[in-house]
Amino acid sequence: MQGIKILGTGGYLPGKKVVNEDFTKIVDTSDEWIKTRTGMSERYVSDGEPTWYMGLKAAQQAIEAAGISVEDIGVIIDSSVSVDYYTPSMSCVIQGKLGAVNAMTIDINCACAGCVYGIDMAKRYLQSDENIKYALVIANENLTKITDYTDRSTCVLFGDGAAAIVMKRRDDALYSSFLGADGTGAKYLFARSIPPANAFMTGNGKVDDEFPESNSHYLYQDGREVYKFATKALPRALTTAAEKINFDLNELDAIIPHQANARIIETAAKNLGISMDKFIINIDKHANTSSASIPIALDEAVRDGRIKSGDKVGLVGFGAGLTFGAIIFEF
Ligand code: ACO
Repeated sequence: MQGIKILGTGGYLPGKKVVNEDFTKIVDTSDEWIKTRTGMSERYVSDGEPTWYMGLKAAQQAIEAAGISVEDIGVIIDSSVSVDYYTPSMSCVIQGKLGAVNAMTIDINCACAGCVYGIDMAKRYLQSDENIKYALVIANENLTKITDYTDRSTCVLFGDGAAAIVMKRRDDALYSSFLGADGTGAKYLFARSIPPANAFMTGNGKVDDEFPESNSHYLYQDGREVYKFATKALPRALTTAAEKINFDLNELDAIIPHQANARIIETAAKNLGISMDKFIINIDKHANTSSASIPIALDEAVRDGRIKSGDKVGLVGFGAGLTFGAIIFEF
């Protein structure tokens, strides 16, 4: 089976740390509510750092860890729901800053499943094009710029940050993936862009998207619906990826789930019958950083030795779209 070898990881967190207590000054909440309902204590937020900058810093660290030449990167895939520009893409901006002159560039918007989608896409490019030696997958998020700080039910949940992975193809390797989506749930988690507007518009073409009323670009979330979806999507994605290769999930050394809510992870672990010890969780320190959450946790675990070469690892994401996906591979 064709798989991947991760050669290097990197991460970047913005300089400003916000603790639960800080929210009590701006909305009606408490440290206790946030901790018990979500498992979150702290999060890093942009102090002006743009999304591309966080991605660039993480990418530079991953490239250094991989020990490769930047000119040998053939494809850059960037995942973000909080980009700096409608155009150009984050991957293009970062390609230019890195000097990765031989890399084609692709941006994806798969929300919190974005890193899993990105790694699987990169694997397929590496597999199908011999000219692509290395792939760089970046997830960079500036979620706090689409966060409404007057809404206590969402503002406490999100943080900013980035992480990156350099990978190459590997023959005869453990690898399976399962990616999915349920667009009927799009209305449960969304952030609008600017509405149509031009000098000639009469408004006669207006169409109702049947999403809940929301006039701003801020994230809207139906927390309960997303919670229900997430507790099912996590075990389903991982189990389906395992079934495709007849793999016993108990053989995994580590599982890195999207860090949306500690209770979602606990429920999913129980449903899967897998010990919580196998799950790598850093939600207390970072809150939810959307697509950056899985690679930030991976980078931390690699750097402190919890994940080592040869370990069997599962990554599993779920989020707006609704999207979900899992990858099983050997680190
Ligand atoms: N502080 C105090 N009280 C609060 C807060 C807060 N920060 N937020 C909500 N409450 C209140 C509500 O107003 C409600 O009060 P009421 O009963 O008087 O109406 C009460 O707490 C319970 O609210 P619920 O929404 O039922 O709380 P719940 O236990 O479901 O927790 C949460 C909410 C944490 C959002 C949970 O539903 C959740 O984790 N959902 C999934 C989120 C997720 O997975 N997102 C994924 C992707 S994000 C992305 O893709 C970018």
